Amino acid sequence: MSQLPAGPFARLAELLGDTKPGKDPINLSVGDPSGSVPAFVAETLARTSDTFGQYPPITGSHDWRQSAAAWLNRRFELTGAIDPEKHVLPLNGTREGLFLALFPLLPLEKNGARPIVAMPNPFYQAYAAAALGVHAEPLYVPSTAASGFLPDYAGLPDAVLKRLAAVYICSPSNPEGAVASEDYWRQLFALAERHDFIVLADECYADIYFDKPPVSALPARLKQSGGLSRLLTFHSLSKRSGLPGLRSGMVAGDPELIGRFRAFRHVAGPQLPGPIMAVSAAAWRDEDHVAANRALYAEKMAAATRILGNRVARPAGGFFLWLQTGNGEETTLGLWREQGVKVLPGAYMGREIEPGKTQSNPGFSFIRIALVKDLSTIMTALERVRDFLERQ
Ligand SMILES: Cc1ncc(COP(=O)(O)O)c(C=O)c1O
Repeated sequence: MSQLPAGPFARLAELLGDTKPGKDPINLSVGDPSGSVPAFVAETLARTSDTFGQYPPITGSHDWRQSAAAWLNRRFELTGAIDPEKHVLPLNGTREGLFLALFPLLPLEKNGARPIVAMPNPFYQAYAAAALGVHAEPLYVPSTAASGFLPDYAGLPDAVLKRLAAVYICSPSNPEGAVASEDYWRQLFALAERHDFIVLADECYADIYFDKPPVSALPARLKQSGGLSRLLTFHSLSKRSGLPGLRSGMVAGDPELIGRFRAFRHVAGPQLPGPIMAVSAAAWRDEDHVAANRALYAEKMAAATRILGNRVARPAGGFFLWLQTGNGEETTLGLWREQGVKVLPGAYMGREIEPGKTQSNPGFSFIRIALVKDLSTIMTALERVRDFLERQ
């Protein structure tokens, strides 16, 4: 873990230090959906609070499993392929599952050597913590404009593919909002079969999109092979329902991998508390609050493209702007000092490709802006960003 840098927000706090914001501060650095909490949350918590008196089952309640599986079948048009008893497990938020999944699933060796776990670069930092936690070698594969902001795993050298035991892939991606096409998924699964590795698909932004729902790994895999082998997908109520404080997500996919993960979780995994499970079942079942959230994000994204013009490439999904501005750390510091707008330097989500060369970090020249406040606050912040960038 000594190879793991401090988290992006700790680094941001250090960068800004004692610098005073130039205007009343607006924080668009954290992807905290911070929307209104649907009424069914409080009602369900009150109704089920007696279940705090029991240890909850690691596999979730019957109702949770039914609701979670029904959402997957409905949302991804899987015609009932997801069996609530075989294909799903509850998580305390996807971060927990994305981290823990490697512990029961990664081999100690691959073809006689230390296994490699590949991930996009830039990426959600828990992937690297997981790879380091199981003593695998993390491999940071650039997601740049040239590769459609997705990692080109098929382009890895044979020597790497021989040792590759798992890949993380995020779609819609954080930070870029790129979406993997069906073709991308097919090629990735074909590669996984050829080189015997597993695919951990982080799809926690799957319900936040602008034109059409993103293709998911689940139907792509099912169509290609008739099953879900080698695939685990991760879904979250933090983004879909705007409930990051609930700490509730799920993992779904290959029943054999789910079985091994379930066995591990029975020994060392965290359960989802009973009332949280009941709220989660209600949240996976309801689409109205999700559609309302999505419509709000669409308004915010439309405002962003209006205000920032062709500085932004509208993402296919997620709620981030990934803006190329020159040195992202300098932009972040300047924006805070002059305009009171807090964003995240793109470099804090990435890694240097050439050691010692900060500019080789694919996030170096970017900032990430999370469109998570109310529309008028976001518009004020983006007008300040525009004014700042115009004066550069
Ligand atoms: C790409 C990505 N994956 C996973 C997570 C974790 O989400 P949660 O643990 O709240 O489900 C986040 C949260 O910001 C994220 O951006």
